[in-house]
Amino acid sequence: MFFEASTRTRLSFETAMKRLGGDCIGFTGSDGSSIIKGETIADTSKMFESYSDAILIRHPIEGVAKFISDIVDVPVVNAGDGAGQHPTQTLLDLYTMRKEFDKIKNLNIALIGDLKYGRTVHSLSYALGIFGAKMHFISPNELKMPDDVLHDLKRKKISYHESDDLRDVIDELDILYVTRIQKERFPDIEEYERIKGAYSIDKHLVEGKDLIVMHPLPRIDEINHDVDNTKYNKYFKQAFNGVPVRMAILKNIIKHDSQK
Ligand code: NCD
Repeated sequence: MFFEASTRTRLSFETAMKRLGGDCIGFTGSDGSSIIKGETIADTSKMFESYSDAILIRHPIEGVAKFISDIVDVPVVNAGDGAGQHPTQTLLDLYTMRKEFDKIKNLNIALIGDLKYGRTVHSLSYALGIFGAKMHFISPNELKMPDDVLHDLKRKKISYHESDDLRDVIDELDILYVTRIQKERFPDIEEYERIKGAYSIDKHLVEGKDLIVMHPLPRIDEINHDVDNTKYNKYFKQAFNGVPVRMAILKNIIKHDSQK
């Protein structure tokens, strides 16, 4: 049930399900479903529960995936809930990092961009913290990591460093994890217009550095296309890794009758 736009998450999940020998039903946007007639998301979810073995949901409101998981008996995957979390993106990010470096512990990672509304970096910071990576949160002042995320990290005794200037840390980095400014989540579009283009990564900035560049995609203008054909680019590989990681997720959560 994709109530928000998606390219990678939806298509990699569909590919994963088909490669496992399964199939998918569903919709993108509510236009083609009875939600448009006024059906509640709870009732719609009960239908999906009847017709399928697992539900993936992407929704603009935080907490909706959790809400659905409380009312259906099939596994529910949060494929992105507003400015909340995006846990399966985190798994494929970790997988990509592990494949590049063999370990996560002590890696120096900068998460840069829209740390306020970007759900990928919320989920990722929890996971990186648990695995003992050294995290730098780099953003304009208006888009800092939210207090609730910072509070959770502190409670788990996970340390982090915040800055608005990438130059403070770039020489130490193993991974530069870039994110898009989430235009659709700004209550005030003028604020977006003021902040957009606040930072941009180009080949010149990373050349000579011993790091890789990651991005959950889609990118707008925060990574220049001149990085694409360099050894620094791992963002397309990262998207590619979405399929095997999501195959593993589906294989683990869907229990056939014989396994129950
Ligand atoms: C991200 C998302 O939807 O949160 N995209 C994705 O799933 N790869 C990142 C974004 O939209 O900026």
